[in-house]
Amino acid sequence: MYGDVNISGAKNAAVAIIPATLLVDGKCVLENVPNISDVKISCNILEKLGAKIEWLSEHSISVDTSHISSTTAPFDMTSKFRASYYLIGSLLSRCGEAEVGLPGGCNLGARPIDQHIKGFEALGADVNVSQGKISAKADRLVGTSIYMDTVSVGATINVMLASVLAEGTTTIDNAAKEPHVVDVANFLNTMGADIRGAGTDVIKITGVEKLKGDATYSIVPDQIEAGTFMLAAIASKGDITIHNCIPKHLDCLTAKILEIGGHVEEGDDSLRIWCDSRPTKTNVKTAPYPGFPTDLQPQIGVVLSVADGTSIINEGIWESRFQYTAELNKMGANITAQGKTAVFEGVDFLSGAPVYASDLRAGAALIIAGIIANGKTELYNLGHIDRGYENIEEKFRKLGANIKRVKE
Ligand code: EPZ
Repeated sequence: MYGDVNISGAKNAAVAIIPATLLVDGKCVLENVPNISDVKISCNILEKLGAKIEWLSEHSISVDTSHISSTTAPFDMTSKFRASYYLIGSLLSRCGEAEVGLPGGCNLGARPIDQHIKGFEALGADVNVSQGKISAKADRLVGTSIYMDTVSVGATINVMLASVLAEGTTTIDNAAKEPHVVDVANFLNTMGADIRGAGTDVIKITGVEKLKGDATYSIVPDQIEAGTFMLAAIASKGDITIHNCIPKHLDCLTAKILEIGGHVEEGDDSLRIWCDSRPTKTNVKTAPYPGFPTDLQPQIGVVLSVADGTSIINEGIWESRFQYTAELNKMGANITAQGKTAVFEGVDFLSGAPVYASDLRAGAALIIAGIIANGKTELYNLGHIDRGYENIEEKFRKLGANIKRVKE
């Protein structure tokens, strides 16, 4: 594949910032919002809670949360996706109570929320989980110190949301450092919050009376989408320039690409990736940022399935994130996945086959596999992909891929 691709706003920032607008007693405008189904679901849920949302353009929305009419999120909607848990932190902060269906989302294994609950209870909330719902209630939230037992993006953001309007100061130790954690903190500070240290292990939040809103915030570029296209360039031995990205956010992947024989040229907000020979083998261990992102694990799995030699991937975050390897094996790959480890014996080429997306990133990986394979691939379960990638087939087609969406 050859050419240029523009990266959209980050899904994992947007699905946190949209619920975070509930903390604003007023209006705000979000720009660089990705046009994806998870964002649309988030907006629909907020409207059910009383928010007024207007799409100002394809990628910007105005959100008016002056009047919140309910603190119970519609179960049929929240159980559809993972990020619904951010409604708990936001509603607890703004209204002192929340009832939300337990999160759904990708089937990556158990997806506990014990660290979220630990944070809410430490701040003084009563939390109850029953009949598939989580209810939280607090007469007042009082700042405290919380040490995360495991590095968790969701719990770090949720505790931040629950602390912004609390009395006193909250310290989150062993905090997640992902770019989208920083983006949520930057959004809240733009609205008048007092959050320091986001992007480091220790985040300090000093409670404020209210968030004034009346501001505009542009969502950070999606480093996982950018990484997906970087790996597409390597898998296809092509030359792709990625625009509207933050190269620093992809340092770990860049290092890995150089290791396997690819080339990277960094611009201020762009990355050019090219590869003119067969990638060589390597080993990958996924870890919290700034380690190798678990959300790019299936995509590099496609590259390693056709690399020269034997590679090993250790999935350090999720229990079950190798479902895609069975699909790649249908295409002629030679991968043995066992628990959190998969061994890739590189093959010369993949062959087209009917394959199924098990989750968002597996789906993106299978698109790359279909593009580089000999023959035709039919990919099913596109709904997973549409949750987090905007116009993905259009972006790949512009890079020279022979891809089209047909009715399932
Ligand atoms: C976010 O999920 C992302 N989703 C995931 O991206 C991403 O894979 C993950 O972070 C890790 O980077 C969104 O941001 C909406 P975690 P999240 O809490 O917050 C354990 C994608 O493809 N844990 O950082 O749910 C958990 O089991 C999606 O865009 C607890 O034990 O992930 C996991 O092993 C897939 N207790 C680890 O921590 C908790 O209370 C990291 O989970 C919370 C998490």
